[in-house]
Amino acid sequence: MKKFLMAITVALSLVGCGNQQKPAAEKSSPRHSTKSLVLYYSQTHTTEKVAKLLAEAVSADLDSIVPVEPYNGTFEETVERCKNEMERDEKPQLIKSLNVDVAEYDTVYFGYPIWCGVAARPAEAWFMRFDLRGKTVIPFCTFGSGGLETSVAVLRKMASSVNILDGYGIRSARIDKAAEEIDEFLIRNGIKEGEVAPEVPFGDKRELNDEEKGIFDAACGDYPFPLGTPVKVSSRVAKNGMEYCFVTDSKDAKGNPAQAEVYVIVSNEAGVGPEFTKVVR
Ligand SMILES: Cc1cc2nc3c(=O)[nH]c(=O)nc-3n(C[C@H](O)[C@H](O)[C@H](O)COP(=O)(O)O)c2cc1C
Repeated sequence: MKKFLMAITVALSLVGCGNQQKPAAEKSSPRHSTKSLVLYYSQTHTTEKVAKLLAEAVSADLDSIVPVEPYNGTFEETVERCKNEMERDEKPQLIKSLNVDVAEYDTVYFGYPIWCGVAARPAEAWFMRFDLRGKTVIPFCTFGSGGLETSVAVLRKMASSVNILDGYGIRSARIDKAAEEIDEFLIRNGIKEGEVAPEVPFGDKRELNDEEKGIFDAACGDYPFPLGTPVKVSSRVAKNGMEYCFVTDSKDAKGNPAQAEVYVIVSNEAGVGPEFTKVVR
């Protein structure tokens, strides 16, 4: 457990929540027609669900990455194998041939679970092998707590000349929200026609009050891995309620003090409690 905790905190914090705002896209018309592929790795089928939703939403072809030596152990065994491979900096394991020819596609939606803070080994192995220059890569991932931002930063380092969008990520515990969120993601990125409310920027970071402390505890109390102690918060009006960005005092992979950002949604809907949506380390 300790080893796993160290591994999942390996990621660095890359995105700040104070005043971050993507350009509002109230209306969008689809880009010119391009040939799209949704390519993914999924060990326990969560990322596969997102892949299928995306493929249907953008009428893309669908294929999966299959390692020659499958990761078919338990969660703990997979964590152990993943960590060992990362520590030894082992060459990525072999991937079976795809059913599609990637060269034929302009846009590749590239999906993976987060493993030890970054894209799962088989997905990374595929990414390292293929020349994606001239294509648009749209990463998507599923995770226990977070990892989209860090994993995308790693992909960009590995392929600096490839156009890699910010991508979409969702906690596996919230997978039932994926269809709605994907729709919004596609509209905001000008991929699908439609309208979404402009995103309101987060306010300034400030001290938490007791109510906000209660919101953090209600959203994160059940999460089995430590998310740190909230020390600051900022908030903004969200689609159906309020969104909070808690800055927490946490620890990095080496056990040194570090800060993380934990995002929580509080819905206006009756009977829906505060929901932790992601952590950015
Ligand atoms: C080896 C391993 C390492 C993981 N590391 C992380 C992690 O660092 N951060 C995280 O939020 N979730 C982590 N998870 C949880 C997975 O990202 C999450 O369960 C994901 O939705 C699984 O996707 P899949 O069903 O498509 O395989 C890890 C899971 C495994 C098996």
